[in-house]
Amino acid sequence: MKIIRSPTSMATWSEQLRRQGVKIGFVPTMGALHEGHRALIREARLRCNALVVSIFVNPAQFGPREDLAKYPRPISQDRALCRKEDVDVCFEPTVEDMYPSGFQTMVTLPTIARRWEGEARPHHFSGVATVVTKLFGIVRPQIALFGQKDFQQSALVLQLVKDLNLGVEVVVQPTVREKDGLAMSSRNVYLSSDDRMRAATLYRSLQAGAEIIRRGVTNGKAVQSAMAQVIEKEPAITIDYLAVCDPATLEPLSSVMRQAVLLGAVRLGSVRLIDNILVVAKQARRKF
Ligand code: PAF
Repeated sequence: MKIIRSPTSMATWSEQLRRQGVKIGFVPTMGALHEGHRALIREARLRCNALVVSIFVNPAQFGPREDLAKYPRPISQDRALCRKEDVDVCFEPTVEDMYPSGFQTMVTLPTIARRWEGEARPHHFSGVATVVTKLFGIVRPQIALFGQKDFQQSALVLQLVKDLNLGVEVVVQPTVREKDGLAMSSRNVYLSSDDRMRAATLYRSLQAGAEIIRRGVTNGKAVQSAMAQVIEKEPAITIDYLAVCDPATLEPLSSVMRQAVLLGAVRLGSVRLIDNILVVAKQARRKF
């Protein structure tokens, strides 16, 4: 496995392969790789001939009071996982490489990025959109894989690629979960042992919402309150938002007639968790 740090060398490597007709797959990450990343890497490996994983903790997507300085950076472990999964290149640019002095251009956001995480973390998505655009420009993959756990991020990337004609096929893969249902995330390591035991409550609340939709409840507020009831049983958890949304627009649904995405964000101590479930309404399911 090659480790490439300079964007110019990365672009040259990709250009040579593209000229030979090699299909390049890409998994962008901020490192601290876990089983969710491994699943993306494995799926990417099956879909391409050359595989690049980027490891870059992107300062532009962290707010001033967020965890940029303490974000986990276990680079040797990350490289070992990539080697084991037959990754061809680990692209590890520095902050100066990605944002040299004089850097000015930021990508502005589509409306799907306005609510939910967009409201809670005002600079986050413009940092994500900008770095993903830059990484795609450097790595020039034909296909890139993202996790459904960051549902709004995936929607943003799909829109970005369409609007800016980036020519990358974006594949969104299902969330990988711990045994108790907690969505895998690099930030789970921050949870205290007590909070770790409570953390799967978020997933259980989304499941409760999904369950009543599957049973035929259509009222968005009723679904939201069924989800809230599960969380409210755990006083140590604070709700940031629980929402019943249209999966395409991420606007709240007053009534669920077809598909919905249930989005949730909660706080346990200083840790913020997000998760989501896609659900098809009873009325929309085909009868055989
Ligand atoms: O999901 C992530 O890890 C990051 O937001 C991404 C897509 C690598 C951009 O920094």
